[in-house]
Amino acid sequence: MRVLQVCAEIFPLLKTGGLADVAGALPAALALAGAQPRVLLPGFAPILAGLSNARTVATLPARGQVPAAQLLLGDLAACGVQAYVVDSPALYQREGGPYADAQQRPFTDNHLRFARLCWAAAELALGADPSWRPGLVHAHDWHAGLTPACLQAVGAHVPAAYTVHNLAYQGSFSADQYRQLGLPELYFQPDGLEFHGTLNFMKAGLHYAQHITTVSPTYAREIQHPEQGMGMDGLLRARADVLTGILNGVDEAVWHPAMDALIPANYDAGKLAGKARCKAALQQQLGLTEDAGKPIFTVVSRLTEQKGLHLVLAVLPQLIARGAQFALLGTGDAPMQDAFRAAATAHPQSILVRIGYDEPFAHQLIAGADIIMVPSHFEPCGLTQLYGLAYGTLPLVRRVGGLADTVTDCSLEALDEGRATGVVFDAFSEAGLDAGIRRALALYRRRGEWKAVQRTAMSQRHDWAEAAQQYMAVYRQALAS
Ligand code: ADP
Ligand code: GLC
Repeated sequence: MRVLQVCAEIFPLLKTGGLADVAGALPAALALAGAQPRVLLPGFAPILAGLSNARTVATLPARGQVPAAQLLLGDLAACGVQAYVVDSPALYQREGGPYADAQQRPFTDNHLRFARLCWAAAELALGADPSWRPGLVHAHDWHAGLTPACLQAVGAHVPAAYTVHNLAYQGSFSADQYRQLGLPELYFQPDGLEFHGTLNFMKAGLHYAQHITTVSPTYAREIQHPEQGMGMDGLLRARADVLTGILNGVDEAVWHPAMDALIPANYDAGKLAGKARCKAALQQQLGLTEDAGKPIFTVVSRLTEQKGLHLVLAVLPQLIARGAQFALLGTGDAPMQDAFRAAATAHPQSILVRIGYDEPFAHQLIAGADIIMVPSHFEPCGLTQLYGLAYGTLPLVRRVGGLADTVTDCSLEALDEGRATGVVFDAFSEAGLDAGIRRALALYRRRGEWKAVQRTAMSQRHDWAEAAQQYMAVYRQALAS
């Protein structure tokens, strides 16, 4: 089965969040499951830089005001996959990030930039590369959301699967912008990709794809209700028969404490001495009080509303007063960055805050800390709690989305039955998180039980092989539809 993955970012070349981790790991897992995967990406500078043996396979025609572009095929050796790249310097090679300029302002022509990507998928389905035509197209998140509509518009009889990684980012544009994209006017209606008079890339994916997936079973249920549906719950309920939740996996080539080259000492569940060394190195390097007995709580995250980090800010004084330390790595919301920086300045021996994106430091924090906090308001899957489990850094999470599906609370019965892997709390409030912290501290003090929970956490397998099997089943269903 030839499967074309369409997405905007891919680890390790270009990453703003978990989408890149998924895009980087899924192709290899699909290949092991028997598929022939290739990826299609926009020609951002880091992606072109990672492309070797590139050759031009086609000139993609303009569609409406979406400009023509070259379609390259080459190897993304860093990702172990062959990739088509839409080469258009005017659209993709700019200062700033993939979606916004250096001041975080979204590029004003994002509708054209990502329509270009989606149209390219349709051209490939029509045979733009005569030597490889996809049998199925799998599009990810709003950037690739128009893909199923483009496939239908060109009459390509190639089914589409569409994965929602985060319903909060929908790709919303005006009706006038829709008219620039070269798609049929007929599609701009409520029973199409129009959403209350606007163009909505996400809705296009949800409406036109043969199958929809999202990244955890619980999130698949939550988004069918108004509270988490972000306006799409009605459509998702209507399509519930083709909506599947598939948990993300952990790429063990990147995240495994026994093999991780980015951490000061390697370890595994049987030999945790290396973890203690990682913790000591962290305290030393960060200027925190060097004390093996003080639990370190960490956060590695985008700083946005979604992640519930204002709750962390609110409980920091109590956390420190209870003798714990706190280390955060993150970037995002400017007032939140400032508030975390101010907390670190006030308590330099107990709080370390690093604003920015830093892959090695993310590994060092997750290896050296004792507890990783993910108190999200909503969380489609979440990856850092999975990395925490793998590294014996127990997750303290809110019971929502993929967090609820991947962490088992250390209730007395779960402890007794050897199932506990972390701490799970319910109320999205300061009191809810604080109660979770107190339970985490109580467990931390019970050293024998703590170690048992660590071992259970580290033995959890969140395997890409398992996820790939489930995607293959979805693809087969889409092909049969
Ligand atoms: P989301 O995609 O919503 O941001 P996930 O938990 O799925 O959340 O994925 C986040 C990914 O980004 C993880 O791989 C995490 O380690 C990484 N990450 C987040 N913030 C940073 C940062 N400041 N520096 C390095 N890695 C980060
Ligand atoms: C999104 C979600 C996150 C998920 C990631 C990868 O960014 O916020 O929960 O893990 O996509 O699927």
